[in-house]
Amino acid sequence: MSRPGTATMGDLLGGLEPGRQNPETLAEGATLLRGFAAAGAAELVAALEPITEAARFRHMVTPGGYTMSVAMTNCGDAGWVSERSGYRYDVHDPETGRAWPEMPAAFLDLAARAAAAGGFPGFVPNSCLINRYAPKTRLSLHQDRDEGDFSAPIVSVSLGLPAVFLFGGLKRSDRPRRIRLENGDVVVWGGPARMTYHGVAPLADGCDPFTGNCRINLTFRKARLATASSGPSTPSRGFVKQS
Ligand code: SIN
Ligand code: FE2
Repeated sequence: MSRPGTATMGDLLGGLEPGRQNPETLAEGATLLRGFAAAGAAELVAALEPITEAARFRHMVTPGGYTMSVAMTNCGDAGWVSERSGYRYDVHDPETGRAWPEMPAAFLDLAARAAAAGGFPGFVPNSCLINRYAPKTRLSLHQDRDEGDFSAPIVSVSLGLPAVFLFGGLKRSDRPRRIRLENGDVVVWGGPARMTYHGVAPLADGCDPFTGNCRINLTFRKARLATASSGPSTPSRGFVKQS
C-alpha cells in the first residue's frame, strides 16, 4: 500500500527520475525505449541457448591484433566478424564454416516493433550481433559502419546486468552521454543519428536472475550482403587490449 505523495518500491526501482520521459529522444533519430523488451526478456535469454550452442561465444581479434574483451556471436543471415584481415559481415561462422543460427521469430518481432516505436517502421534485420559482457568488460566508442546500407536503423536490446551506455555524436571527439541501461531497455538509432559513436563503460559486478553475472546485448542490423567477395572493410572500431 502506498500513501499519497509517497514513492512506492515500484517508483524507486522501476520508475523514472523526475523530468525523464519514456520514450526518450536522445538525438534526432535516436530513441531510448525503457523497458520495451522487459516482458519478453526471459524468452529472449532462453532463445540464446541453442544459438550459442551452435555458434559459441568467442573473443574476436581486431585488425590491429587486439583480442576483444566482449564475447560475441551472431544469428541471422549474416554475422559481424572481426579478424586480422578486417571487419565484415559473413554468411558463415568462420569457426565452424556453417551458416549462423537462424534468427528466432521473437527477435525479429521485437526488433521490428522497437524500430517502429523509434520512428523506423518496416525494419527487417538480417543480422543480430550478440555481445556478452562480463564484469569489467567494456566496448570502446565506435560507429556501426560495416553494414553497407545505412538507411536502416540499429536496434540495441539490453538484457541482464545494467550497464552505462556511452552515446556520443557524429564525431569521435563529441563527448558521450552516459546512459544507464537496464534489463529490457532498447535503444534505436537511425536516420541522422545512424552514424553516432557509441560504446559501453566497464561493466560493474552483479548478479541477474536470468543472465547470472553478465550483460547480454543484442544489436539488430540490416547488412548489405555481398554477392561476390567485396573484401574486408576499413577498421572502424578502437578496442582495448584484453588484459
Ligand atoms: C554494440 O555497439 O555492438 C553494442 C552496444 C551495447 O552493448 O550496448
Ligand atoms: Fe555498435
